[in-house]
Amino acid sequence: MNSTTSSPPSLNQAIEHRCDVLIIGSGAAGLSLALKLADHCQVIVLSKSDRNEGSTRYAQGGIAAVFDEDDSIESHVADTLDAGAGLCDEQVVIYTAKEAKAALEWLINFGVPFDTEESHSGEKKYHLTREGGHSHRRILHAADATGEAIQNTLNDAVAAHPNIHFFERYNAIDLIASENTPKHCKGVYVWNRKREQVEVIRSRFITLATGGGSKVYQYTSNPDVSSGDGIAMAWRAGCRVANMEFNQFHPTCLYHPQARNFLISEALRGEGAQLCHADGTRFMHNFDKRGDLAPRDIVARAIDFEMKRLGADCMYLDISHKSADFIVKHFPNIYRKCRSLGIDITRQPIPVVPAAHYSCGGVITDLNARTDLDNVYAIGEVAYTGLHGANRMASNSLLECVVFAKAAATHILSRLADKTTDELIAPWDESQVSNSDEEVIIQHNWHELRLFMWDYVGIVRTNKRLERALRRIRLLEQEIHEYYAHFKVSNNLLELRNLVMVAELIVRCAIQRKESRGLHFNVDYPETLEQSAPTILTPLKSLIEEEPGTLST
Ligand code: FAD
Ligand code: SIN
Repeated sequence: MNSTTSSPPSLNQAIEHRCDVLIIGSGAAGLSLALKLADHCQVIVLSKSDRNEGSTRYAQGGIAAVFDEDDSIESHVADTLDAGAGLCDEQVVIYTAKEAKAALEWLINFGVPFDTEESHSGEKKYHLTREGGHSHRRILHAADATGEAIQNTLNDAVAAHPNIHFFERYNAIDLIASENTPKHCKGVYVWNRKREQVEVIRSRFITLATGGGSKVYQYTSNPDVSSGDGIAMAWRAGCRVANMEFNQFHPTCLYHPQARNFLISEALRGEGAQLCHADGTRFMHNFDKRGDLAPRDIVARAIDFEMKRLGADCMYLDISHKSADFIVKHFPNIYRKCRSLGIDITRQPIPVVPAAHYSCGGVITDLNARTDLDNVYAIGEVAYTGLHGANRMASNSLLECVVFAKAAATHILSRLADKTTDELIAPWDESQVSNSDEEVIIQHNWHELRLFMWDYVGIVRTNKRLERALRRIRLLEQEIHEYYAHFKVSNNLLELRNLVMVAELIVRCAIQRKESRGLHFNVDYPETLEQSAPTILTPLKSLIEEEPGTLST
């Protein structure tokens, strides 16, 4: 099968599409993979909202790689391991740091407009900024809107490729796993949002590039699509997940009633911005010798601590000691946004609060980006590769998207001939369902879930709060399961079903970790143990032999 085809529907038969590789997600990870494959096979890319809507588009600070001659791959590795608080997979960190420059050059070849400057000798070179945890300037960026530059450039390239077929406003619902071994995926049920119907996509290979699940928290820097769908789908299909307790909270999101999810990039602190109280008192040096440039987990906890200690609604980030020219040139997007809300960042401090930002855990993959299902890969934020450990270092995430897109492409292309997609797939059964009669239940459950996740499973946790959260999750799961069984699917229902699954995985991982480390801080276990390991959860219908020390559900 070399072409993407759609079969017409007959009575009781769902529309079916076919391709060689189905990529679920159109952010940096999904689009990079599509471009690396498309000269060799037919690719379908799915996005559940507009093709641009995902975390990638909102990324500000940049993407890390060693470009400066005073910097080294060893230093990038050491900083990543340090930020990861002893839980990174060193082999993966070395692999990623080594691949970083080639990944950046690949983006540059497509035309991503990273900022440049003139060197002393008058040569053009990339401007490198700095962020928390990095001991060198090593972050390429396009002003303070790096993600938009990457998303737009990759989008243009994808649109120009005849072998890439974009399915916009399609929600992947579930992977259809085979019964026979090796367990693989026969296809995917997808919900066509425009036509409001469930269709099937058969594909030899499937890649999850669905981003993270930070939407499970009330306050987040992420867009609405970050509902952890890929993690939940993979788990339901029998894949293991790891390190879900390590959800990263970005220390500085704009605190303003009219600003929803707006990030104030860590690059501001990289260029000298300082955290302070309302009266201008600085506090970060009381928490870490690296001060404002300590890794994110430390800064977010410090802000949370100061807010609670002082009963304050927010802390402040001040860059007004820099010249207005410098600020406007380096941070035009942040300057404009704050200005539109009446905050002139060249003259006054910015009110900031922490918010859920990044899922360090996810679907377990190997160095080829393979999951436990034979023909299913996972790349980008949905995946747990081992790169980030207990805390992701800034600007390593976009890098991971591109590096592992290449790894997945290489592996898929090496086995393109060996799969068929003609197995029997049970039709989607809608005979017992009707239109939802009480949409209010979904709305209410959405709010309830996100609020108690924020209150009980946030920056600081306790055993009691985690157990309370798990009890609430079990109740919600029952209700959502019943709702899902009786009513037609909708975007809100599908996302809620996935979010509650992700919440359960976060809480179970958090309960399993009997220490505080990196992003996970539990008042009842404040110490960091000398020996530790990633938290691995294995679903009941596991695809692999259980490893000692893992937990089945
Ligand atoms: P995303 O870009 O989130 O894309 C997910 C895609 O999956 C979307 O197309 C979505 O529609 C699709 N999708 C999801 N579920 C489904 C489904 N069920 N069916 C169909 N499609 C689905 N990282 C850095 O390295 N540097 C930075 O400067 C930086 N800044 C950031 C700033 C902000 C505000 C945020 C939110 C994140 C930032 N990050 C940064 C993190 C980084 O942007 C993300 O980790 C990265 O972009 C994730 O890319 P992705 O391709 O994995 O997923
Ligand atoms: C930021 O610009 O502060 C975000 C960087 C990141 O999440 O890597």
